[in-house]
Amino acid sequence: MCTLLIAVLLIQKAGVARFLPDGSPLQFHFYDKSCPNVEKIVRHVVSSAVASEARMAGSLLRLHFHDCFVQGCDGSLLLESIAGVIEGEQQALLNANSARGFEVVDAIKAALEQECPRIVSCADILALAARDSVAVSGGPSYPVQLGRRDSLTANRELANKNLPGFNFNVTDLVAAFANVGLSARDMVALSGGHSMFAARLTPDPQDPTAPAAMLQQQCPAGAASDAHTV
Ligand SMILES: *[C@@H]1O[C@H](CO)[C@@H](O)[C@H](O)[C@H]1NC(C)=O
Repeated sequence: MCTLLIAVLLIQKAGVARFLPDGSPLQFHFYDKSCPNVEKIVRHVVSSAVASEARMAGSLLRLHFHDCFVQGCDGSLLLESIAGVIEGEQQALLNANSARGFEVVDAIKAALEQECPRIVSCADILALAARDSVAVSGGPSYPVQLGRRDSLTANRELANKNLPGFNFNVTDLVAAFANVGLSARDMVALSGGHSMFAARLTPDPQDPTAPAAMLQQQCPAGAASDAHTV
């Protein structure tokens, strides 16, 4: 199975804030006392969202990725634009009209507010939702360290600069990932995550340098049928 598995590598590593602003490390049991059901609640909302629309799994995975590539995994992608105050990342080139699933994040947040008000960060919600999207789509699951803090600022300019374009060739992709401290190996892992979109495994005859050509070697004919087409 060429799909999903590889997304895990990236998510565990990608721009992941490993430390809180005060220098303390993220923890697996961060909410054990303050919100012990956090993972169950996130899983439940993600499950039903993906059950009603399979594509949502890829959408939620992408939100976490696009959040992490700009200022680290800090929820900055969720901040809406406020004229003169915040230039939201949702209007960045690679998010406008394509970043989706915000209503699911809102539903998760609402469910968590009922259970444990003002405890769980939105950045942690994105990290858990990405993990659960992969898992409920038939991919592996993995433990997620928690305790991220939400940013009060967003950076649309950095989003436009940092987010890898769908039309990037391998050279461009390696550079974009290196820019946030990720290796070519990590880059391949994220590209694999995108194979949740089976179309990514179909090479473009006009563009033999497209990442799909590389993936096609790893995931030959028929592999796409294992992918979760979303
Ligand atoms: C990749 O794309 C860039 C433009 O974004 C171009 O300058 C470069 O030559 C391309 N590299 C390959 C190997 O095609």
